[in-house]
Amino acid sequence: MAPVVPALADSDALVQRHACEASIRAGIEPPVASIWPLLGSQDRFLRTAARLVLERIEPPRWADRLTSEPDVTTFFEGIVALCKHDRAEPYAEPLYKRLATMPLPGERDQLLNYLRVVQLLLLHTRARPQAIHDIAHRCYELFPHRDDFVSRELAILLTWFAREKMLEQPVHAALLQALRSSSSRPQQIHYFYCLRLLHQGWSVEEKRLLLSWFEDTKNWTGGHSFVPYLENILRDLYPVFSREDLIAFLRNPLEMPHALAVLLTVAAPDRLPQAAFLAATYEQLMKAEPAAKTFELREAVISALSRMEGQEVSRALRHIADLDPDRFEMVVRALINRAAQDDWPYLVRGLKSSSPIVVSQVISVLLRMPQRPPMSQEPKSEEAQPYRDLLLAATRLPEREQIKVVRLLRKWTGKRFATDDQDCREELQAFARWFSQTFPKEPPLPNLASLAGQSKWKFDELLSYLEKNPNGKNGDPARGRVVFEKANCIKCHKFGNLGEGLGPDLTTLKSRFKRADVLESLLYPSKAISDQYRGSTIVTKQGLTLSGLAAPQGDTLIVLQSDGSKVTLKKEDVAEMVASTISPMPEKLLDDLTLQEIADLFAFLESEPPK
Ligand code: HEC
Repeated sequence: MAPVVPALADSDALVQRHACEASIRAGIEPPVASIWPLLGSQDRFLRTAARLVLERIEPPRWADRLTSEPDVTTFFEGIVALCKHDRAEPYAEPLYKRLATMPLPGERDQLLNYLRVVQLLLLHTRARPQAIHDIAHRCYELFPHRDDFVSRELAILLTWFAREKMLEQPVHAALLQALRSSSSRPQQIHYFYCLRLLHQGWSVEEKRLLLSWFEDTKNWTGGHSFVPYLENILRDLYPVFSREDLIAFLRNPLEMPHALAVLLTVAAPDRLPQAAFLAATYEQLMKAEPAAKTFELREAVISALSRMEGQEVSRALRHIADLDPDRFEMVVRALINRAAQDDWPYLVRGLKSSSPIVVSQVISVLLRMPQRPPMSQEPKSEEAQPYRDLLLAATRLPEREQIKVVRLLRKWTGKRFATDDQDCREELQAFARWFSQTFPKEPPLPNLASLAGQSKWKFDELLSYLEKNPNGKNGDPARGRVVFEKANCIKCHKFGNLGEGLGPDLTTLKSRFKRADVLESLLYPSKAISDQYRGSTIVTKQGLTLSGLAAPQGDTLIVLQSDGSKVTLKKEDVAEMVASTISPMPEKLLDDLTLQEIADLFAFLESEPPK
């Protein structure tokens, strides 16, 4: 012990620091009096080393010194030492009192220390003496500070004080005001992040100001996850918005379509406007230019309706399907679970969906419904349509799902072409022949082999082309990039900085997969599905069914549907969740491509990903 203690009083800060470190290493406890003066040192490293020594000395030997300690730096270091070992509680009252009455440091760094020490003490003590209210008022008076960093610490504290009801002042209003007057985006996001915890006292005008600020963030660039990050913050703020607010804001849906879309996607059914109102909103959106600006909100309206119950909901959905045929697939998804007689023609349209999951669900529902397509003596073209769509739907389903198509064909036609379910391909082909016999004036169905649910490409032939044929081996990556877009891969997969979505990132595909593996994924998407991307079918306690990739988030479950839309459910509302055996990736993606295009696509996926 002897050599260390004198070194603590050395004239050189580095020597002193080494002495502190040595005393810790050697397990020596120096007298408090010899360590105390170092806590206020100008040298930050020495201060920290001294504090680490202090932390190892029992607080009863030194903590009482703190309240009368004239040096502010020493005072702060002492509090940190207490808090780090959770020993502050017995001293809480005098410490708060001093923090409430001491002059506020004028210097910026010292002020930051003051605020951080207050935060630390609040975290590590349970005592809540009156002095804390005085500190809260000091902070309120100080906000916003001319220094952004000071303002950030203040915002954190003010938020806490407001939540703990230690301030009557409208903290949310002060933060909102600061957010709107700051020109720094990180600063604005910080305030927004704090605001997410303040749910009381908002006026309608304040809510509008916040949403319109949020609306503008849509145009900020900041990487792929930036927009969802801000959306999640707004989701946390959702309790602030009443049903009446939503209705009021939706009256002018074009003022802030992005913000409203986020709110509509999270709103619980009892917070949503009536179905007819939502349908009217949709009508308004349809008239807006440019249409792209309203897509997100349109889908959010459909998603909101899909969470509601009642006949008027179905009516609204059907109305939307009539208005906006491009979104029929989303509407069909929403109708699937509530299907009533009147929905039948809309569900039949769902047979055209490119998503195997939707097609499969639609067929299941149609199998339960009594209706069949009408058929007159001299069948008309529109009467042929449902049969054509159903037969073609079989081409989009994996083999083991095709038996459902056969069952629905049997039900609709009252015929069957096999005595059992053994050979459903053959029966499908028989139904295809029946189709051309029954509707002779109709254009023929595309080739029957494709009805067998297989790609027009044979795996072996295509692989040998891609591996052995000079053209097939050496595609052109630049043209392949175009194919990547044209074949919609880009909608579900990332490749370098391209694309996004719910499928796996293909950037490192080359190092993970051989050509044969990639080809297998493309020709038989449902053959192997990694669990991470396995879709689920979820039945809610309200009886709704949803399919897609389910991602738990806190006490909610976010379901990403294969058309890219999202639905958020409360976990407690989930009655049943079953894994799906159908890949969200569509079958037969390569059928519309030429051999050359396929070779180019492979070359592209093996090229250096764009950065
Ligand atoms: C509708 C969304 C969707 C589209 C469109 C899509 N995929 Fe996929 N893809 C997925 C999903 C989801 C998976 C993961 C589940 C699975 O393996 O079936 C996947 C899996 C894959 C895999 C296996 C990757 C791995 O890491 O396991 C490859 C390769 C692939 N896709 C390539 C493509 C290519 C090339 C295209 C365009 C021709 C394409 N995909 C189009 C959704 C899609």
